[in-house]
Amino acid sequence: MSLIVAIALLFAVQVLAATTLSTSTTTTTTATASTQYAVPTYSNPVVWASPKYNVGSMSRAISVSSKTEYGQMVDPDNTYTIYRDGGGSCTLYNRTFFIFDDTTGYKTSGALGGFATNSIAMARDFSDPTSLKDFSMSDSVGYFLPIPMTTAEATASKVTSKRYAFWTYTNCVQLSETSAAHFFLVNKYSSSTSDTFLGNTVAQLSINPTTNVMSAVRYTEFAFDNTTYPYGSFASMVVNGVAYLYGLDATYSSSYDVHVASVPVGRFWDSSKYQYWDASTSTWSYTQPIPTARRQSSAAIQGTMPFSSGTVFYSEYHNQYLLIFFNRWIDSTFRVITAPTPLGPWNITNSVLWKTTSGASYNYGGVAHPVYGSSDGSTIGQSLKVHFSYQDDDGTTYPKIGQITFK
Ligand SMILES: *[C@@H]1O[C@H](CO)[C@@H](O)[C@H](O)[C@H]1NC(C)=O
Ligand SMILES: *[C@@H]1O[C@H](CO)[C@@H](O)[C@H](O)[C@H]1NC(C)=O
Ligand SMILES: *[C@@H]1O[C@H](CO)[C@@H](O)[C@H](O)[C@H]1NC(C)=O
Repeated sequence: MSLIVAIALLFAVQVLAATTLSTSTTTTTTATASTQYAVPTYSNPVVWASPKYNVGSMSRAISVSSKTEYGQMVDPDNTYTIYRDGGGSCTLYNRTFFIFDDTTGYKTSGALGGFATNSIAMARDFSDPTSLKDFSMSDSVGYFLPIPMTTAEATASKVTSKRYAFWTYTNCVQLSETSAAHFFLVNKYSSSTSDTFLGNTVAQLSINPTTNVMSAVRYTEFAFDNTTYPYGSFASMVVNGVAYLYGLDATYSSSYDVHVASVPVGRFWDSSKYQYWDASTSTWSYTQPIPTARRQSSAAIQGTMPFSSGTVFYSEYHNQYLLIFFNRWIDSTFRVITAPTPLGPWNITNSVLWKTTSGASYNYGGVAHPVYGSSDGSTIGQSLKVHFSYQDDDGTTYPKIGQITFK
């Protein structure tokens, strides 16, 4: 239930814990972790849409004219051969990068170069969408975690079968031109084959455009722990300066229900400013729900199939909010549902957009990247870059990128 606290409060908690250490039996301090690293300067200009909260009716029906698979997203200059999965994109100061999940890099000799629960790579050129520049794993940098761990998490993770995993399947929340928040599901392994979902965590990513240094900070260990909904881990969107954070109820609804929290972007790091939507009463509350059963009527979206990964955004082309998603029935298919406001009412009759070609097993982690559409001369939402995790016949997994173009 711990949420983001202000930095000042965090320091206060640490000082308090230190001074009461000798008498306290529970020496729980709020976890922190931070890191900084150089970023490549590949720049792709983007223009953001700024929709009204309620955009009214759709200007055109959903209809796909073409689908294109470009292939594996890969850094052509990296001598490491890299496998990884999941991931979402983020754009700061016209630089679009992807943060991927569990990543393994092999040297040209075939020896292991590194394994990390996250890796980060910059998009080089929007017109060449497969081409990335890795900057946390390569022969030259070795490897590091772009999303930092606390000392305790890092220590535990030295033993692979006890490690922490930070996984994202969605894009970041845009807070300003140079700052964003990215949510990660936190899983903890107890053996090599068994892991437990603990909640999600959120990292503040800030770029210094002069020094080209990225700073990544986690103010608390968890944003939302596993007694509540992992808001922001399914999808997120900023409209009129308010961040809408979408979370799946995997525990009680088997991921059919999507619950929503909101916070003004300027107050993102202040837990007291978060509100939680109850669709059954159409009201926001500052009190965070702690579910003990399915709360179907309180959900902003009740799907007709269980959601897996998704992206919510405003499509200027359709004049409507779109939720593009993959389901848990692992049919490797991008689908869409639509709404006139971030909260709905969602028309849950989905349209199939693209059944992608799978390899040895199903594709997963389908995510859309509408930001690419702002630079290709089309209206935002008209042509849409999407990526997904592809499982190859040789047992490896890697991201592929493609495009869906609407009529
Ligand atoms: C990003 O690119 C757009 C389009 O060219 C431009 O209007 C904007 O000023 C750029 N933003 C930054 C921070 O450079
Ligand atoms: C939730 O997290 C706690 C640790 O904070 C863990 O002990 C528990 O097993 C988790 N619950 C579930 C349902 O995974
Ligand atoms: C809901 O979406 C479906 C699929 O796009 C569409 O056929 C249907 O007309 C929509 N319903 C309403 C009420 O707009």
